[in-house]
Amino acid sequence: MSTENVDLRKQLQQHVQSLRGAGVEWAPLGPPLETAQPCGTACQPVPTTPPEVASPPLSLLAAADSGSVLTLEERRQALKVLAEEVSKCTQCAALASTRTQTVFAQGPAGAELCFVGEAPGADEDAQGFPFVGAAGQLLTKIIQGCGLKREEVYICNILKCRPPGNRTPLPNEAANCRGFLERQLELVKPKFIVALGSSAASNLLNTTQSLGKLRGRFHDYKGIPVMVTYHPAYLLPHRAPEKKRDVWEDMKMLLTKMGKPIPQKQA
Ligand code: URA
Repeated sequence: MSTENVDLRKQLQQHVQSLRGAGVEWAPLGPPLETAQPCGTACQPVPTTPPEVASPPLSLLAAADSGSVLTLEERRQALKVLAEEVSKCTQCAALASTRTQTVFAQGPAGAELCFVGEAPGADEDAQGFPFVGAAGQLLTKIIQGCGLKREEVYICNILKCRPPGNRTPLPNEAANCRGFLERQLELVKPKFIVALGSSAASNLLNTTQSLGKLRGRFHDYKGIPVMVTYHPAYLLPHRAPEKKRDVWEDMKMLLTKMGKPIPQKQA
């Protein structure tokens, strides 16, 4: 089976598991797939029977794919179901055996802005929420510096488990967690995303480009504009605090794109 098919199969399995968790017991079949035919003069449009009218479980099934037909309350509920599913995940046996708990996210469904980090650290693993340690406090300041409240943005990570010793997520770990992230973003439906640091950016955007090359312009994640900036841990006093200036430039670019005022910087 090709890697693409293995990925699809894994995503489908996760999807079905979360639907079961949400109480979905059945879903009507769609119309049969048309058989591919070589296209010549004999190639005529094949009449298709319209699919059956969607029943509630089917609408949930469709909604879990797009996140678009659910009400805000249904998206909240689906995120809870997903968080529950994540909490039981053992796909990365090593991470599952060393974590204290999974760290799903913080913030409301429907948040306009979503920050995506790399993976929980020690503080996050202990408390169960993303960005609550030293880097997280700096992230909160960055958010507030933009004239926003931490409670109004959505914060999550590429990985939902802490890698031992805070090492960079391995490609297979990011791949295992990918379906969760994708569904999370489908359900939150942010209008803008900020990828924090090169690991988050390269995983989210599926690129090997360096952070330096990715900064300064918007990228696309399924139609959502993505801005890439430095990870707040990199801005801490013992690393590169001088890069805070660059982060502020990035955030101003984001605020302009969002149509929000740029607050005067405190001296
Ligand atoms: N670093 C991250 O990338 N995510 C967290 O949640 C905390 C630190």
